[in-house]
Amino acid sequence: MTILVTGGAGFIGSNFVLDWLAQSDETVINLDKLTYAGNLENLASLQADGRHIFVRGDVGDRVLVDGLLAEHRPRAVLHFAAESHVDRSIHGPEDFIQTNIVATFRLLEAARTYWSALPVTEQVDFRFLHVSTDEVYGALSPDDPPFAETNRYEPNSPYSASKAASDHLVRAWHHTYGMPVLTTNCSNNYGPYHFPEKLIPLMIVNALAGKPLPVYGNGLQVRDWLYVKDHCSAIRRVLEAGALGETYNIGGWNEKPNIEIVQRVCELLDEMRPKADGSSYKMQITHVVDRPGHDRRYAIDARKIERELGWKPAETFDTGIRKTVQWYLDNPAWVEHVQTGAYHDWVAKQYEVA
Ligand code: NAD
Ligand code: DAU
Repeated sequence: MTILVTGGAGFIGSNFVLDWLAQSDETVINLDKLTYAGNLENLASLQADGRHIFVRGDVGDRVLVDGLLAEHRPRAVLHFAAESHVDRSIHGPEDFIQTNIVATFRLLEAARTYWSALPVTEQVDFRFLHVSTDEVYGALSPDDPPFAETNRYEPNSPYSASKAASDHLVRAWHHTYGMPVLTTNCSNNYGPYHFPEKLIPLMIVNALAGKPLPVYGNGLQVRDWLYVKDHCSAIRRVLEAGALGETYNIGGWNEKPNIEIVQRVCELLDEMRPKADGSSYKMQITHVVDRPGHDRRYAIDARKIERELGWKPAETFDTGIRKTVQWYLDNPAWVEHVQTGAYHDWVAKQYEVA
């Protein structure tokens, strides 16, 4: 048996591939374009593992995707590939429209063509799992209840609007063509292999480098944090038991204001890598100009996935953030390669890439 994972060299995708192969002998076809966010160094431990087949390419390339589906006959497509960073979407939305909407449409069409031609027994078992975000629901006020699956879509950034569009396409492909789709909407992830443009890894990496820790505005915006391995286990569970055409919110009930996150990271570093002069990393915190259209608060109501599929996260924020800080301290080469861009040279050396 085989699964096709898109975006499996990114943060969540690579964690998913590693987790999957630690628990299953099913081959993974990993299709990733290797944008700035794709890093095959994340998957270095799989280099000699025949169960991992890496293909560099665009999910919007019909010829390539049709060929992969015909050759490997996967029982499922798990679609992680996306442009994922809100700030980048504000400064340059084009790639977000191309990948998150247009390429997702092409991938859906490729999957539909493949699925329609499968023998009925295989057709029944096939799944297309679309990995999406809580940001499609827009922003909450402090007193609002957390996002449920029934909340209206009210995306506010080019990133969240492009993800909302892709969710609607996936929904329509189920409603119109009967495609066996599943959609997951997850809150903010953190953990190993997180690219240091996002809040938590940026704070760790900047703190260690003695650089400012830029907190947007007053830092009182709230995000709901989930350790990445818990996101992976939720996706496995939805793939296994999710009801076709349904969406599942994924979160760990860990709402925190940004400033608290940054302070916690500093406290852990003070403990685990104290500065020679005895000062706290908190001295590096710097409030900077706010993100345009910055969403005030996200929070996930994760009761449906718990009630219907029996999924719960294994980590609390305290255990997950400690593991995360430790991982960055233990992996200085990964951090250095990401900061210098050397991870792309490493890829070129290790793999034949187009
Ligand atoms: P990421 O930016 O770390 O990785 C994205 C990966 O997709 C990269 O490896 C990149 O090379 C690849 N990619 C981009 N465009 C591609 C294309 N056209 N064809 C093939 N590959 C392409 O992203 P992430 O944080 O790992 O997020 C993965 C998915 O999870 C995304 O769909 C994102 O919207 C969703 N999500 C992320 C979070 C989070 O907190 N990071 C939370 C909820 C949902
Ligand atoms: O909610 C899920 C989403 O979480 C995912 O869909 C996105 O792919 C993922 O990038 C993430 O989006 P955010 O915008 O919430 O993540 P980011 O790490 O960029 O920012 C988290 C919060 O921290 C946000 O309120 C902005 C703030 N921030 C971020 C950076 C990079 C800062 O204050 N300073 C910073 O330097």
